[in-house]
Amino acid sequence: MAEYDKGIRIEGLRKRFGEGEAAVDALKGVNMQVAPGEVVGLIGPSGSGKSTLLKCLGAVIEPSGGRMTLGGQVIFDERWTIDDLSALRRDRIGFVFQAPYLISFLNVTDNVALLPMLAGQPNTEARRRAQELLEALDVAHRAQAMPSHLSGGEQQRVSIARALISRPPVILADEPTAPLDSERAMAVMRILDRMARQYQTAVIVVTHDEKIIPTFKRLYRIRDGRTEEESGEGRSLF
Ligand SMILES: Nc1ncnc2c1ncn2[C@@H]1O[C@H](COP(=O)(O)OP(=O)(O)O)[C@@H](O)[C@H]1O
Ligand SMILES: [Mg+2]
Repeated sequence: MAEYDKGIRIEGLRKRFGEGEAAVDALKGVNMQVAPGEVVGLIGPSGSGKSTLLKCLGAVIEPSGGRMTLGGQVIFDERWTIDDLSALRRDRIGFVFQAPYLISFLNVTDNVALLPMLAGQPNTEARRRAQELLEALDVAHRAQAMPSHLSGGEQQRVSIARALISRPPVILADEPTAPLDSERAMAVMRILDRMARQYQTAVIVVTHDEKIIPTFKRLYRIRDGRTEEESGEGRSLF
């Protein structure tokens, strides 16, 4: 389906760690598609290959085979098909982690604006865009606060703003709601869903969190290095 080619398409992805007797086949032929504007869940037991898959997609490790398309461009086809992997990570992929990893000595606005400022964008322009995202994420009233003064839910919303600032076609979220209570976890999922549609971002959320699993319209279960697609319940977000 052409629509998926503009988001994320993973075909026959394989990853082997080590060699010979000690080799571990962490991914044995993974297939997955996420359309622009869609939030898809990835669930599976510990050791099933979830982090390995996100690291391959995030160009943090090199797959052993298969194909990956990201935001309309083939980035891997048995080998990397682009030269500058760090530019790919910086400009085209937003990462959201379980811990927000905000920089403690920068206020909320500067945490969000930091990457574009480092990339050479004028500070006022970067801060203006940060402010716009903070408003969209309902944390603009905390723009001048230091991270340690925010609640867990607020910190996670700031880390989502930071992931969105370069308008990446793809967001990879690894257990983004794990430390949050039910209400805040739902709020974060609602916001991810709204942002995905607003900015036409393709989002993959790796999770063990039973609370949010029913929010996915579509999800993939990964077991022993292979994925199976399931249609989720997609309820309770709105
Ligand atoms: N750097 C590595 N070297 C060797 N084996 C690894 C490495 N990273 C992950 N693995 C193995 O790959 C499999 C999948 O791991 P991982 O992707 O971390 O699973 P999950 O995130 O689902 O818990 C596991 O068997 C794990 O031990
Ligand atoms: Mg993991």
